[in-house]
Amino acid sequence: VVPLLVLSGCKPDSELQVPNQTPYTVELPAHAPALPVPSDNKLTVQRVALGQKLFFDPALSRDSTVSCGSCHLPNKGFTDGLAVSVGIRNQLSVRNAPSLTNVAYSPTLFWDGGVPTLELQALAPIQAHNEMDMDFPTLVQRLKGNATYRELFQKAYNTEPTNLSIVQAIASFERSLVSFRSPYDSYLEGNLTALTPSQIRGKDLFFGEKAECFHCHGGPNLSDGSFQNNGLYKTYADQGRERITSKPEDNGKFKVPTLRNIALTAPYMHDGSLATLSDVVDHYKSGGKGNLNQASFVRPFPLNAQEKADLIAFMEALTDTSFANNARYGQP
Ligand code: HEC
Ligand code: HEC
Repeated sequence: VVPLLVLSGCKPDSELQVPNQTPYTVELPAHAPALPVPSDNKLTVQRVALGQKLFFDPALSRDSTVSCGSCHLPNKGFTDGLAVSVGIRNQLSVRNAPSLTNVAYSPTLFWDGGVPTLELQALAPIQAHNEMDMDFPTLVQRLKGNATYRELFQKAYNTEPTNLSIVQAIASFERSLVSFRSPYDSYLEGNLTALTPSQIRGKDLFFGEKAECFHCHGGPNLSDGSFQNNGLYKTYADQGRERITSKPEDNGKFKVPTLRNIALTAPYMHDGSLATLSDVVDHYKSGGKGNLNQASFVRPFPLNAQEKADLIAFMEALTDTSFANNARYGQP
């Protein structure tokens, strides 16, 4: 869904002159890149707190039944455990809800990369008829009628609730969803016993030239942010990246997803068609369905039962329990 609303009145922070803001700081290990934050929406404690309240508030949907958090649950890495999401009045989405783990680092948003910023992204689900089916004039009025929100918007953006400040606050909360405390991170920081022998063998397979996973799932978030066809289908029902570029060579290409907290985010792929990590490994091992646009790194490779278990064990080592069970990111 393409955002229908143009954000006007975008001013740099210096012009907003918001008093008494407390900078929001995140502790990052050495192997984590700096958190990308736009200069016109600096991260502050007040903004993250407001965004968190909005994210979990069903009042953002027309009939006050669906919040962002209905489909992005903290204990599931901010996914919903369904193949495709269910929105307002039990309507189905067309795609699987992606993880929001470290979403600030994602260069584009949506499986097809159709939206460039978290601020613009938030416009889409609020207005989508099958997700929250809300319109911004009604939403702004609703929030203006709430004294708590009026105060929180003043503190965070020195304004009453507006289209822009609503999506800026939500984006700020999403940027705070930072996860670099998995056993794998601990291992990267030099704690060599943080991974089991099986997980270490799995890591070597993952980063080796037999399984080839790292070519796409590389870097600190186990994603290079590119669009790839991983051979899930011979013929795709969902055009993927082609929907945005109209190029046939982008048919069936999707954004390479992060694998952080992947053990919490089943089922898998853009349509939730693979139920388990075991199914995922079987898919890659088989070499894919041979789509015209399939990446050459997806091709059959031999993998015995122990190696398969090792590869899955490595992916399980990407779970950050301090993130998934952290009240800091939950319903306020
Ligand atoms: C009805 C379920 C549902 C609701 C409600 C919902 N989402 Fe989503 N979300 C999804 C699905 C499904 C996708 C994938 C859509 C696509 O790629 O086309 C998605 C994608 C996203 C993404 C892109 C992530 C990425 O890595 O590309 C972000 C960010 C996001 N949602 C944030 C939000 C916010 C913020 C709200 C509330 C304003 C929200 N969502 C409400 C289901 C939902
Ligand atoms: C050519 C690039 C490429 C390679 C190589 C690759 N992947 Fe992927 N991976 C992707 C893309 C693209 C998707 C999403 C595809 C879709 O949804 O249709 C994906 C999806 C996944 C998912 C599901 C993520 C989610 O959130 O649903 C897992 C798990 C995964 N890959 C693991 C692996 C493993 C393990 C390997 C090595 C055996 C591997 N990948 C190799 C590109 C790649």
